[in-house]
Amino acid sequence: MAIHQFDAIVVGAGGAGLMAALYASRGAKVAVLSKLYPSRSHTGAAQGGIGAALGNLEEDHWQWHAYDTVKGSDYLGDQDAIEIMCREAIDVVLELEHMGLPFDRTPDGRIAQRPFGGHSRDFGKAPVRRSCYAADRTGHMILQTLYQQCMKHNVTFFNEFQMLDLIIEDGVCKGVVAYDIDTGELHTFHSKGTLLATGGWGKCWSVTSNAFTLTGDAPAIALRRGIPLEDMEFFQFHPTGIYKMGFLITEGVRGEGGILLNKDGERFMERYAPTMKDLASRDVVSRAIHLEIHEGRGIDGKDYVYLDARHLGKEVIEKKLPDIAEISRVYLGVDPVTEPIPIQPTAHYAMGGIPTDVDGRVILDAQNTPLYGLYAAGEVACVSVHGANRLGTNSLVDLVVFGKRSGQHMARFVREIDFQELPLEAETATRTELTRILANDTTQETPAKIRNELQRTMSRGVGIFREDAGMKETIAKVKELKERYQKVGTDDKGRRFNTDLLEAIELGNLLDIAEVTATCALNRTESRGGHARGDYENRDDDNWLKHTMYRQTPSGEAEIFYKPVVITTHQPKERKY
Ligand code: FUM
Repeated sequence: MAIHQFDAIVVGAGGAGLMAALYASRGAKVAVLSKLYPSRSHTGAAQGGIGAALGNLEEDHWQWHAYDTVKGSDYLGDQDAIEIMCREAIDVVLELEHMGLPFDRTPDGRIAQRPFGGHSRDFGKAPVRRSCYAADRTGHMILQTLYQQCMKHNVTFFNEFQMLDLIIEDGVCKGVVAYDIDTGELHTFHSKGTLLATGGWGKCWSVTSNAFTLTGDAPAIALRRGIPLEDMEFFQFHPTGIYKMGFLITEGVRGEGGILLNKDGERFMERYAPTMKDLASRDVVSRAIHLEIHEGRGIDGKDYVYLDARHLGKEVIEKKLPDIAEISRVYLGVDPVTEPIPIQPTAHYAMGGIPTDVDGRVILDAQNTPLYGLYAAGEVACVSVHGANRLGTNSLVDLVVFGKRSGQHMARFVREIDFQELPLEAETATRTELTRILANDTTQETPAKIRNELQRTMSRGVGIFREDAGMKETIAKVKELKERYQKVGTDDKGRRFNTDLLEAIELGNLLDIAEVTATCALNRTESRGGHARGDYENRDDDNWLKHTMYRQTPSGEAEIFYKPVVITTHQPKERKY
């Protein structure tokens, strides 16, 4: 059993993890653990840009960005955190530029900006160019830039290490237990500060833009260790995933002027959102596509519509949207220069997650009591800046702004305290679970079979629209799958690169997170942002302007409590696009 000691451990090497590691490394000895090679992290899938009110092409202000974010969140976002994010986004984007991020440029050499869904000028009057982009590879460029900076600042990387447990004792986080995928050995990482940045859990659904690795590892482990999860009922469906496969086709296509068409060739978003049209916020556009399909206006009666970019011309498509052109050609055999792209909504982003304050400290209750030594940032965290629905580009803003703030706070924190003694046998529970799974064979249950059933029931019961009966059915099914999970086995009993075993562990995480998501969705009897109920169609501020907190009691029971929404400037009102 190897034991490593670092001032700060960061789990996850996407944008939030790397930004936090970079800033923590300015005052501490830092290690990053990642189940992937860092530059393969899912931040690389973010295409269309990072929002910041630079005003390079037209007037813009961070207060307009904050207003759009509050409105986009359907008034569930905490406005103190949103103000910090939108104000600090400007400096952080310039910082990324100075680190070498190759943004596209205006003719006079400044960072280029394009319109994006829900981003407006002058408090909702018309779309504004706010998304700073590097073609349609912005997330990929952020990853490369930050990884290089971390190497330069001597951050230590443990690649292909999977976190399996958090070490928490007497209200203090003392590190993590991780599995070395290469050797099958368990390692204990002893730290003063630990930051979770493992991303989302889109693999709960059948059609998703998420990579195979996005299985809710950190929130599932946190839940088992008594940490609450916030606003788990809110999961975003991005309007434009590649038909059947779900890969992302960036909103940047619509930002550049692409439009959505139904089977009659109608630009249907004009009916649903007369001002913002195809650039309304994502929940609005995804619901519109769903309704068009449901009411028989999908293409050829099937469950997709067209995203038409032909009028943008070959030059714009090849220069500003090269990756989506290639994805569309390779996976659909469709050339967007000459043909419209078949798309359908795709499970994309978790608005909820591990609750934190604005410095990334994980909190335990409605009074913001921190759990000492534990931080979270990026998609896995809930600050909450996205509330019930996230605006496009704000995921990248969230992860760089709050990744930086968490890293800075952690650097200060670890300077002030000593290492706390590790509990004896910190890895025993993990070893027992691995042994249990390896002892099972695959004659009864396989991870793939249970995962497919999980994804089907979540897509049916907790999709774009939800109602009481469907959610109850899903919860019952997930409980059944959890029982069957006890029998899941692996064909591979070996130690080296046992991906069978990892898939089984990830499935356990998905099952726990799916149950929380469905339970919180059933509990919230209103429609708000990404949570649209057929049986409760209206937003209900009198009863539901509050965050859901879900906790597992020591005896394994579910407990739901609430946390107030922070409102500073914008009182809730009806959303019109
Ligand atoms: O559409 C996109 O490029 C995705 C961006 C995002 O999720 O923010």
